[in-house]
Amino acid sequence: MTPKKPSESYTVQTDMVLPNETNSLNHLFGGELLSRMDRAASISARRHCNQIVVTASVNHVSFNHPIPLNSVVSVIAKVSRAFKTSMEVIIDVFIEDPKNNTKKQANKGIYTFVAVDNNKKPIAVPEIIPETEEEKLRFEAALRRKQLSLVLAGRLNPSEASELKALFK
Ligand SMILES: CC(C)(COP(=O)(O)OP(=O)(O)OC[C@H]1O[C@@H](n2cnc3c(N)ncnc32)[C@H](O)[C@@H]1OP(=O)(O)O)[C@@H](O)C(=O)NCCC(=O)NCCS
Repeated sequence: MTPKKPSESYTVQTDMVLPNETNSLNHLFGGELLSRMDRAASISARRHCNQIVVTASVNHVSFNHPIPLNSVVSVIAKVSRAFKTSMEVIIDVFIEDPKNNTKKQANKGIYTFVAVDNNKKPIAVPEIIPETEEEKLRFEAALRRKQLSLVLAGRLNPSEASELKALFK
């Protein structure tokens, strides 16, 4: 399989916040944002591997700023690293201020997707070759995050998490 670049999976989903998507504080409901992030990240993973993908894990989400009703929200997703059958996708969420053309980062998320065949069995995905400095940093750290996610999911014995152990040496 031909290796791909992170930019080939770049995905932007822009939408506004409607009243039925808010909580009692008139901010975007967290579950609605998670859904938007999952959709954009899923498209990004599909663009990388050109296969059906499933969400295997929501590794991390930080809700740093509330997103008020009527905001214009952009969810930007890009594959940061591809492993054998899984891909890490990093999602950055921005609130736009169309009046002065500025944007502020509200949230960040890290999801893992797995490519599956018609029998729902994992299948191999293309390698990824990071290009920019940020892509290289995200690529480097992704193996640590994968091991942490697998340990938390009970799929990897902590004693075998070599990258995590190296942090404490
Ligand atoms: C995700 C799924 C396909 C994995 O299938 P599996 O038979 O357990 O396959 P494996 O153990 O070989 O794992 C496949 C890959 O996923 C990775 N993976 C699985 N769980 C993971 C987790 N919690 N965090 C990070 N990576 C994970 C494995 O490390 C492996 O990666 P690699 O091949 O790149 O090294 C399967 O568990 C599944 O279908 N889950 C339900 C998905 C779903 O329905 N999502 C929608 C949400 S409702």
